[in-house]
Amino acid sequence: MDNFPQKSKFFLLLLLSFLQLSFFSFLSSAFSPVDNYLIDCGSIADATVNVDNRKFLGDSSKLGSGFLLAMRSISLEDQSPSLGASPLYHTARVFTKPANYEFEIKQKGTHLVRLHFRPLSSSSFNLSDARFHVSANQILLLSDFTGQIAAGNPVLKEYLIWVDGNKLVISFIPSTESSLAFVSAIEVISAPGDLIADTARLIKPQGIDDYAGLTKQALETVYRINVGGPKVTPFNDSLWRTWIPDDGFLHLNAASKAVYTSGRIKYLPGGASREVAPDSVYNTARVMNNPGVSMPDFNITWIFPVTSGYRYLVRMHFCDIASMSLNLLYFDVYINGYLAFKDLDLSELTGQILAAPYYMDFMVDIANSEALSISIGPSSLSNPSRVDAILNGVEIMKLNNSMGSLDGEVSLGPILRSSPRGNTSGFMPSVVGISLMIAIAGVVYRRKTEVRDYLAWTPLPVDASESNSNSMYRS
Ligand SMILES: *[C@@H]1O[C@H](CO)[C@@H](O)[C@H](O)[C@H]1NC(C)=O
Ligand SMILES: *[C@@H]1O[C@H](CO)[C@@H](O)[C@H](O)[C@H]1NC(C)=O
Ligand SMILES: *[C@@H]1O[C@H](CO)[C@@H](O)[C@H](O)[C@H]1NC(C)=O
Repeated sequence: MDNFPQKSKFFLLLLLSFLQLSFFSFLSSAFSPVDNYLIDCGSIADATVNVDNRKFLGDSSKLGSGFLLAMRSISLEDQSPSLGASPLYHTARVFTKPANYEFEIKQKGTHLVRLHFRPLSSSSFNLSDARFHVSANQILLLSDFTGQIAAGNPVLKEYLIWVDGNKLVISFIPSTESSLAFVSAIEVISAPGDLIADTARLIKPQGIDDYAGLTKQALETVYRINVGGPKVTPFNDSLWRTWIPDDGFLHLNAASKAVYTSGRIKYLPGGASREVAPDSVYNTARVMNNPGVSMPDFNITWIFPVTSGYRYLVRMHFCDIASMSLNLLYFDVYINGYLAFKDLDLSELTGQILAAPYYMDFMVDIANSEALSISIGPSSLSNPSRVDAILNGVEIMKLNNSMGSLDGEVSLGPILRSSPRGNTSGFMPSVVGISLMIAIAGVVYRRKTEVRDYLAWTPLPVDASESNSNSMYRS
């Protein structure tokens, strides 16, 4: 009886350490980025997005304003936002001169950069007239981007940027014609190390080459598709991505059918992780629509409109959720009509486990075409009575061109030289002392002249402090 308290103490400790263990394994199962900057531009208050519960810091707030280095800026607020619209799109930050947002980077490597744009307008001020350039570090992301193409709807641009140093600078540069730039919200998130591998299969007319050096390229997400399934929102994706259905890109609808599993997706160590693509992508797919009697003589094909003159990364996501047993499924993969992978055997690639995710990275140059096509079809190894093919997801990303641009045959240098100020010293991170002065001048000045625009736009006051900070900027 004496040692009973001792015993219960022991069990209590055991229980506690067990609870602690499961708590930590729960914690570690969710991805938490080292760098995670979420900015609601033009807003005094912080905004919580209901679809995924993330909190965006208003860049007019005390904390949020520290990221913005601008000679002057205007915050624009929609006084009658449409019901249900994301709070991110109620406000915008407007620039009439080049301006930077600066983020301290704690984890070197790939970062997700998302830029949200929704043109607002007031009686004297219309963001649909804006025309501007955007860069991230030295990469040109957007050139002559107009608020107009958005036609009142929000536009979301996503980039994967390799950051070597301890800073990511996003610049907004009004074009000389419009003198107006804007942004509604910004996300800068450090990506998990396994998101972008360094090697891929480069598809050429003569065959396949091994490509290395992918990690350090700048990428723009062009398509992110959940094949055979519904739209996946940031709520169901650990990197807050959106995946759209593939229906609109399918070449011949009758050739395929959508399949779904409610079973567990078996993420394997060393294979695709949940951060590469979530369960919601791997648990749906498209397979061949054949009754299994005769050898089908067709491919399933998807066609994606793209801009020519770029190299594209095509990431295909596979997970065999359709086969009843292992080693029954063999198929060929084509990209733009070229054989990209012959006799693909998921059972072998996943180490003999069904429903285990696997992805492959291909690269293809699009020179004289405005489309990128993907096909999956019969392999010579297919058993004639069980011909099939499967695809669960596709991502298509554009690589920056040799001019360091993701948007046209232009580079950042000439754009900065011809920008309204005609001087870019403020963008050069070379002289630390000067940057610091700019930071102080910028913040002080912005506080003084920030104009909040509600229904009517008040012209910006021009006073001595402007020329003052201008000259400091130039020095
Ligand atoms: C998203 O997650 C919720 C909760 O886990 C689930 O009920 C829902 O089906 C998921 N949606 C998709 C598209 O997978
Ligand atoms: C599938 O597409 C490829 C590339 O266009 C073509 O070579 C092949 O013959 C097609 N297969 C079938 C069965 O139509
Ligand atoms: C992307 O830009 C970088 C830096 O300007 C350059 O080194 C690289 O070659 C570019 N990528 C391509 C595919 O041209």
